[in-house]
Amino acid sequence: MTPPRQPARRRTAVLATVPVALAALLATTGAAAPDATGPAAPEAGGRAAPGTAGAPGAGDAYFPLSGNGGYDVRHYDLTLRYRPAARRLDGTAVLTARATQRLTRFDLDLSGLTVTRVTVDGRPARFTRDGRELVVTPRTARAKGRDFRVTVAYHGTPGPVTDPDGSADGWIPTDDGAFVAGEPQGAMTWFPANGHPRDKASYDFTLTVPRGRTAVANGVLLGQHTAHGETTFRWCQAEPMAAYLATATVGTFRTERYTTRDGIQVYNAVDPREARAAAPVLKKLPSVLEWESRLFGPYPFRAAGSLVDHAPDVGYALETQTRPVYDSAPDLGTLVHESAHQWFGDSVSLTAWKDIWLNEGFATYAEWLYSEQHGGPSAQKTFDALYARPARDGLWAYPPGDPGGGERLFGTPVYERGAMALHALRRAVGDRDFFRVLRAWADEHRGGHGTTAGFVGLAERTSGKRLKGLFDTWLYTRGKPDRA
Ligand code: TRP
Ligand code: ZN
Repeated sequence: MTPPRQPARRRTAVLATVPVALAALLATTGAAAPDATGPAAPEAGGRAAPGTAGAPGAGDAYFPLSGNGGYDVRHYDLTLRYRPAARRLDGTAVLTARATQRLTRFDLDLSGLTVTRVTVDGRPARFTRDGRELVVTPRTARAKGRDFRVTVAYHGTPGPVTDPDGSADGWIPTDDGAFVAGEPQGAMTWFPANGHPRDKASYDFTLTVPRGRTAVANGVLLGQHTAHGETTFRWCQAEPMAAYLATATVGTFRTERYTTRDGIQVYNAVDPREARAAAPVLKKLPSVLEWESRLFGPYPFRAAGSLVDHAPDVGYALETQTRPVYDSAPDLGTLVHESAHQWFGDSVSLTAWKDIWLNEGFATYAEWLYSEQHGGPSAQKTFDALYARPARDGLWAYPPGDPGGGERLFGTPVYERGAMALHALRRAVGDRDFFRVLRAWADEHRGGHGTTAGFVGLAERTSGKRLKGLFDTWLYTRGKPDRA
């Protein structure tokens, strides 16, 4: 086990991909007020009717239009048919949501695609498109606190969105299907969603693809059947999930199923072109999950597995819930990283994207710990090697606690300096309290959300130490810290 030499999960340098002017522009839009909706929708007639129309965004500073206000989705039931040769998607999404205010109108996030019909509680509803917002006006207002059901019928040729950092995210066609990974905002490229991680829900998927292809989503495979040259796969993701962690990856895959000693249902799908390289790493999944369970507490889901695609243009892996997707055969460090995200990022979700270090710093630190406990360099050694980098190194380009915009979410400071922050905590409080903090974090926020302030508070309560200074240094102070 080698220490992580590839800083971020991306293979290309994040900082180099965005021209400075564009980065500045994106930073400005990112800071805009949450009511900046882009081109106005005349049909919608005044987007800001006070108190009754749901907000078009969840209020995230980095992605103002991601997610929506006024309701909480409890369940998504997605029925999709994909024909890879024509790149054609036909979908019906049924969302069960609870109104958090009296609601005369609400938005869903949806990018591209053609919507043919929307109903709310079975009755046709008016809808308009406004950029990446699908604006729905039910016949009558939904009462605050009540559940309602939205059905959206849609179709089209899905494609990815380009993230602020220049990477593609969402529905990414491949030569035999599609690689589907939605972080941070790609869910809207294939289903209408409340696309901010603040709103988690359970999911059912019914996915139909040509016979011979496999469609892999999250959670447990309930069944599959073939008829008229097509195979339908039914997947159930029972535990709450953020929309960006949903997948419906399609391809020609070799599949494998088994149950671990702990009763976790494993389903692997591997592109034959990656099979040979992937096999020795995938074999380690049960032992990696067992090892992580000892450190972080019980694995938070009933299902697990790996989806190894052959998608050479993608350039990253994603910790899709229960079953990470890899664009090629992963190395062991990457498997450890994506598995650690199941606790940190998936089960415990972000409340705001600026807290991304709670995902990436933790998953990176899991790699350091794995190395330390499996005959590789100690975490201290990894820390020291990073700290030795000169002040002008990209590692110190910005502090990870609020990287400053969507174009910086997956940069080296978030991954590596984020992990350094955890190592600094470990040294300050000692191993016993450090691992207590990690376990309590996973346990107390299981299936829910966390914030950096919440984590700092937990670390202070657990250790009885004042740690504000330490976190200020490692998360929020510009430049290279004076002392390691
Ligand atoms: N969260 C992923 C990981 O660390 C990486 C990732 C997902 C990513 N989407 C991305 C990196 C888009 C760059 C661009 O495993
Ligand atoms: Zn990660």
